[in-house]
Amino acid sequence: MEAIVAIRTRRSVRAFEPVPVPREVLSELVGVAMYAPSAGNQQPWQLVLIDDRQTLDNLSRINPYGGAAKVAPAGVMICGDTSHERFPGFWVQDCSALTQNLLLAIHSKGLGAVWTGVYPLDERVRGARVVLGLPEHVIPMALVLLGTPSRKTQEAEDRVRPDRIHWNHW
Ligand SMILES: Cc1cc2nc3c(=O)[nH]c(=O)nc-3n(C[C@H](O)[C@H](O)[C@H](O)COP(=O)(O)O)c2cc1C
Repeated sequence: MEAIVAIRTRRSVRAFEPVPVPREVLSELVGVAMYAPSAGNQQPWQLVLIDDRQTLDNLSRINPYGGAAKVAPAGVMICGDTSHERFPGFWVQDCSALTQNLLLAIHSKGLGAVWTGVYPLDERVRGARVVLGLPEHVIPMALVLLGTPSRKTQEAEDRVRPDRIHWNHW
């Protein structure tokens, strides 16, 4: 799929067929996502790939808007590893770039996904830490849930906002 088409047609998917995502597909997708830009190329991410039903169910309980975890066959927890930071504070931007790459890679493969937020909400961060057994220096940022969409998504409304574009000065 051409990049601009992928960007324009990606939508959040929260309902999935009960079909597993093969581990080799998950590995390929996260490998592609790792081509994301990062501050000074520090690549401060750690990814937890999840295809265990019980773990997904447990994760669905850490976010009141994380119901997709109950029906998704797979998930990826994108975490920032502060021990890999050479430019402190930039890990959120770095991990967000990776997360968007992941969403686009999933979409271009004909699968669907939704980004569910974890960081900066303390309660969700603590919950994800416990469920996944993360060490202190690894901060869970986003849980991407993915699988085969069970219904067709609609094209997004027109999101071009000329009033949000400023040339040369505010
Ligand atoms: C930081 C962030 C956190 C989000 N958290 C959730 C969430 O907890 N649950 C959910 O269903 N969707 C979540 N979303 C998805 C947004 O609701 C969705 O991207 C937005 O409504 C636009 O729709 P679209 O993705 O179909 O273009 C999140 C998206 C972002 C970027």
